[in-house]
Amino acid sequence: MFKRFRPNRIDEKTRLRHRETFIKKSDFIWPVFLVPGDNIVQEIPSMDGVFRYSVDRLLEPLGQLVGNGLKSALLFGVPDEKGVEQAYSSDGFVQTAISSIKKNFPALEIITDVCLCSYTPDGHCHIGDNDRTCEILAQIALSHARAGTNVVAPSDMMDGRVHFIKKALSENGFAGIGIMSYAAKYASSFYGPFRLAADCAPKSGDRKDYQMDPANADEALEEIAADIEEGADSIIIKPALSYLDVVAKAKARFNVPVVAYNVSGEYQMLRRAVDGKIVNADIIEEVLTSIKRAGADRIISYFTPQILRKSEG
Ligand code: PBG
Repeated sequence: MFKRFRPNRIDEKTRLRHRETFIKKSDFIWPVFLVPGDNIVQEIPSMDGVFRYSVDRLLEPLGQLVGNGLKSALLFGVPDEKGVEQAYSSDGFVQTAISSIKKNFPALEIITDVCLCSYTPDGHCHIGDNDRTCEILAQIALSHARAGTNVVAPSDMMDGRVHFIKKALSENGFAGIGIMSYAAKYASSFYGPFRLAADCAPKSGDRKDYQMDPANADEALEEIAADIEEGADSIIIKPALSYLDVVAKAKARFNVPVVAYNVSGEYQMLRRAVDGKIVNADIIEEVLTSIKRAGADRIISYFTPQILRKSEG
């Protein structure tokens, strides 16, 4: 005697009846690169089909995506001059964009990246001192909250930043703002294309003294536990694909939403492989489904626009 599995695979409707994992529109968070100024749409050479927008030009594609079912966007500000103070100025281009997006799309969840790497002259995510950096990150988060962001997403990997951010938000009447922390962010080569997009490559050295060693999983769970303890209400694991074991463990252990970031290198490698006809385009859905199957509740992905065009609900 042996068990027959093939009858469950006989045709699409039967396969559907037995399917365990579905990706849906509301799973997806669209990362957006925002620049100061007007009337700007710039191609990003390292990321095919991804653009940097000034807010006035962002509204149209954003409107289309919202019409297609987009629920959340993650904003990255890319300033045209370096300098840390502008990151938390109340009339900075990110803060202005937050208000304008909120006004135009009140139902869209706005998540804002909180980091210094696009603002520091040396391209690092800190200004040398860990705790002083955390104080600045808290000011940035507060300025985003005042502008109307729904969620702040610190991506710097300083120790204690969630504690500082939570404190600043709570003391200023913004206890309701979500904190989605990049709790387990690895020192990864998969970020290469993003660093060109966000003009944030370190001018010297690397980020290995603050981002995690790719060899460590137990430590990721400690990082996540610490961020939840400090006040994070959802956590990000990043990159996604080489770290699906960490996604699975985090989902099994913690009771907060687990978000996986399908990062720039993961995007561009697949994009080029599909466009070069090395693999067929179904691979995109296969890969994104694998992230969900591993345990991610949500997925941050540059493939979001094309998924929204295709998927249900
Ligand atoms: C910087 C930041 C990075 C990414 C998100 N925030 C790059 C880095 O840490 O060097 C990478 C995202 C991607 O690759 O898509 N704080």
